[in-house]
Amino acid sequence: MGSSLRAFCSPVLLALAFLAAVAPLRAQGELRGHGGPVRALSIAADGRQAITGSFDSSAIVWELERGVARAVLRAHAGSINAVLALPDGGFATGGEDGRLALWRGDDFTRPRSFEPVHAAPIVALAASPDGALIASASWDSTLAVHTLAGAPLRRFEGHQGNVNGVAFSRDGRLLVSAGYDATLRLTPLNGLSPRVVKLPSPLNALAIGPSGEIAAGGSDGSVFLLTEAGEVWSRIEASEAPVIALAFSPDGARLAVASPRGGIGVFEAASGKPVFTLNGPGLPVWTLGFTPDGREILTGGSDRLLRRWDARTGDHLGPTAMERPADLLAGREGGRGAEVFRACAACHTLGAEGGNRAGPTLHGVIGRRIGTAPAYAYSPGFSAHDITWTKETIARLFELGPAAYTPGTKMPEQRVTSPEDRAALVDFIEAESRP
Ligand code: HEC
Repeated sequence: MGSSLRAFCSPVLLALAFLAAVAPLRAQGELRGHGGPVRALSIAADGRQAITGSFDSSAIVWELERGVARAVLRAHAGSINAVLALPDGGFATGGEDGRLALWRGDDFTRPRSFEPVHAAPIVALAASPDGALIASASWDSTLAVHTLAGAPLRRFEGHQGNVNGVAFSRDGRLLVSAGYDATLRLTPLNGLSPRVVKLPSPLNALAIGPSGEIAAGGSDGSVFLLTEAGEVWSRIEASEAPVIALAFSPDGARLAVASPRGGIGVFEAASGKPVFTLNGPGLPVWTLGFTPDGREILTGGSDRLLRRWDARTGDHLGPTAMERPADLLAGREGGRGAEVFRACAACHTLGAEGGNRAGPTLHGVIGRRIGTAPAYAYSPGFSAHDITWTKETIARLFELGPAAYTPGTKMPEQRVTSPEDRAALVDFIEAESRP
């Protein structure tokens, strides 16, 4: 990720990336899915699923009600900076590799399409209101619009530098984009000339409210509020540090604003008055969003977790996948091993009844050949390895990490560094996965 981050001129994001790189591997004992910071989040319109993208180059589709990972999506080389839950139930991911991947239907082993679209990282994606178009914004200073039906790509130029945010206007006729060149551009899709709004600060983030109102987050810590037509009507001094992510509540009344220093501020959009600050674990975050019912704010950050917050009180509700610890580790007295297994439980079950999640069931895994759990779609490179799972080989998998021990795998990179923890983990798996 080094080269692409250098291309992004925000010193804050550099600082954040550094933080992510040196943050101690906390972890064992905490339930997580991603092996790296969570960079991007999109919540499906029905509120039942969400997709996250990570520096670990995977995306995860989460079932929010059950608090489990449904699928790991892996295609990009490098980090996944932008994700989108599509109105038709599919997903889109945009990567540091400049590619756009479309994931449709239930086959998550490979994207339906995987096109090189930009010459630099894609950092934002948006769907048109009718769901027919996807727009991507890139550090190559362009925007691109793709149809889901496969019509040729259209490209829009004009920004002088990184484009950090993109959205469609409410009627779907305009592309709204926010650039590090301190402009907001309203570009008609019909080819007419864009309206260019010059703002006092480079822009890092963009959101569109339910009535078409526009919010743009600046590196000076301001949020600029504009009408649908691009008239600036308000400026919220949200933070002393750059704004890196922002989201409207579904009713448009509130704005959640994240910056790398301190918590997340929630403001009244109309008056700019601060309502409360989210204070708790997992800060600072890279990405955030309200659930469609307006009750929760979800955040993703350097601690690799998808976290939930009460949108009315600001209380921290816990990591998403810890929502039902009772289901995950029902009735198991595993001590340390159970604790370590929390890092696996979003994706793997152990009991006969559990079935496959984002990862194959580990029921009966000891003595099983790699890649042979029934009805699970493995990555081809993974099943091709010549491994039989024993306590030793599973311990080795997490001593070296999946990328080194089983190259070609889609399992997010993670290691269990302490030998005692590895021993406890495999004892626990052996005991709990026994047929
Ligand atoms: C985000 C989801 C995720 C997490 C978290 C995760 N895994 Fe996996 N795991 C997978 C996926 C996906 C595969 C299948 C790999 C493939 O097809 O490339 C897998 C495969 C495996 C396999 C091989 C199973 C087989 O049938 O060959 C083992 C063993 C395993 N994981 C153990 C663990 C353990 C132990 C942990 C926790 C320390 C863990 N995994 C954490 C997603 C995950």
